[in-house]
Amino acid sequence: MKIIDGKATAAEIKSEIAKEVAEMIDIGKDVPHLAAILIGDDPASQTYVSGKEKSCKKVGFISSLYKFPADISEKELLKVVDFINKDDEVNGLIVQLPLPDHINVNKIIESIDPSKDVDGFHPLNVGKMVLNLPAYLPATPYGILQLFERYNIETVGKNCVILGRSNIVGTPISILMSRKAYPGNCTVTVCHSKTKNLEKICRTADILIAAIGSPEFVTADMVKKDAVVIDVGIHRVKSKETKSGYKLLGDVKFDEVSKKCSYITPVPGGVGPMTIVSLLKNTLKAAKKEVYK
Ligand code: GUN
Repeated sequence: MKIIDGKATAAEIKSEIAKEVAEMIDIGKDVPHLAAILIGDDPASQTYVSGKEKSCKKVGFISSLYKFPADISEKELLKVVDFINKDDEVNGLIVQLPLPDHINVNKIIESIDPSKDVDGFHPLNVGKMVLNLPAYLPATPYGILQLFERYNIETVGKNCVILGRSNIVGTPISILMSRKAYPGNCTVTVCHSKTKNLEKICRTADILIAAIGSPEFVTADMVKKDAVVIDVGIHRVKSKETKSGYKLLGDVKFDEVSKKCSYITPVPGGVGPMTIVSLLKNTLKAAKKEVYK
């Protein structure tokens, strides 16, 4: 069994991006600029956004943060997005989710200029992804593809089972794994809360991607010998084993599944660190006008 080290891979890609930014500066090009909008004071969202800002700094990008209280109106938020859309100095724009209930999230996402939508959430980018046209890919699925690539994991003709059908992970990774491309060319099955015989389907997987949002859901008896297991889950649960009183668990029961599979991503240090790297890669593509000319 081999551990897929997302932390090390992310560090490697970040240093490649930093090198490219230094070269851009040398030849007088503008450095990539990512803007983030953060609404309210949800601690997880604050942590994610500050992680994104720190990573920008590390690779030499400019980052700007637009922070507003949870009671900002939808109209005001649309004005902010419009303002950033029109700012020629900003290459990428993300609106951290979730948004407060009084704001229509789809309306906000659709208001983002698709050429700046480095989260890949705008319907135009989703549509382009489905058609295998140049598009910004959503961060977590893009991070998973990069792990397959960096570890030279064969995907053609494999049975890929995906647990979860969210807009952010399950649905886009199902499209990407079935596309005529590498990584891709898989026969994909998507399992969700209404799936019958889920455990049996999991046992057919050469590649199992768990994004179901339930701690340690995948047990060894659900995994075929030598499968590749990608764990997208991250859950902070109470623990007597750690000083902090908490530990992080994935959607996969790591101790038992790792003994049976050929490759596995740990939690933490697997898929997580790759998501920010994907956002940086998309922002770099935006600055270089690689997706929208
Ligand atoms: N909330 C959880 N994941 C994400 C993400 O990838 N992008 C944004 N904008 N918000 C999120």
